[in-house]
Amino acid sequence: MTDHWNTIRRHWQLLGPPLRPPAEAVEAYESELDLSKAHVILLGVTPELAGLGTTMTAVDESSDMIAGIWPGDTAFRKAINGDWLDLPVPNASVDAVIGDGCLSALGLSTARRALFAAIAGVLRTDGRAGLRLFAGPETPDDPAAVRALALSGGVSTFHELKWRIAMTATGDAPDHAIPVRTIAERFDALFPDRNELSARTGWGLPTIGTIDVYRNSPAIYTFAPATTLVSEAGAYFGDVRIALTGSYGLAERCPLLVLRAPRH
Ligand SMILES: C[S@@+](CC[C@H](N)C(=O)[O-])C[C@H]1O[C@@H](n2cnc3c(N)ncnc32)[C@H](O)[C@@H]1O
Repeated sequence: MTDHWNTIRRHWQLLGPPLRPPAEAVEAYESELDLSKAHVILLGVTPELAGLGTTMTAVDESSDMIAGIWPGDTAFRKAINGDWLDLPVPNASVDAVIGDGCLSALGLSTARRALFAAIAGVLRTDGRAGLRLFAGPETPDDPAAVRALALSGGVSTFHELKWRIAMTATGDAPDHAIPVRTIAERFDALFPDRNELSARTGWGLPTIGTIDVYRNSPAIYTFAPATTLVSEAGAYFGDVRIALTGSYGLAERCPLLVLRAPRH
């Protein structure tokens, strides 16, 4: 997996919403979780989230991602190498845990449950967590409808299109998984003419080319429906809710999963 993220890191500047959180989504973390006086654990090194909290420790298993996209350690924040499923902090010691798209980066429902358990374990009794979701529909979308939507200008960014294509082909419960390379194969089948896609949408060919790093990736993403994730989280938290993160393209499928009352 670290190779997958290292390849993505090389074209990070070409990425955008909904893969990267826009300002309104960052505000949702702040308003839903009240982070102004909190020590925050960030899962990953999402640069847009690096300014949240009074102090922050970001945890990522990829030293290349830390070196490549983390905006740098300061007196108030630092990034460390570590596994989210074995967080390097004492139990019941943390005010808040946040993360962006983390649940989709885990390829199995058992891994999602392990992450919920790890987060619940490190949070104080009054601690809270917020994870922005990439949540799929209850039944996969129709590929022909996604193609028509894109060519008619109804998809906000190429990155939204990548997620919409993935959401036509995610596997069954409980995992709702899709190998990343399958997203690239589905894209090729739906949009064999990149120049046409570029002309119809205004997206540059380098941005469309970000799909090509998926082609040889061993990574598996998951796009479980929000109701599934709420139910999975409910085994580890007494208070689970969904909050909207704005009005950017696909925002309705990218809500914040807000977790309180960890079961220790
Ligand atoms: C936060 S996620 C998603 C980022 C972005 N929003 C997206 O969807 O492309 C990406 C990061 O998670 C890290 N990561 C994935 N699984 C991890 C794990 N089990 N422990 C620590 N870091 C992990 C990767 O190294 C990568 O830097």
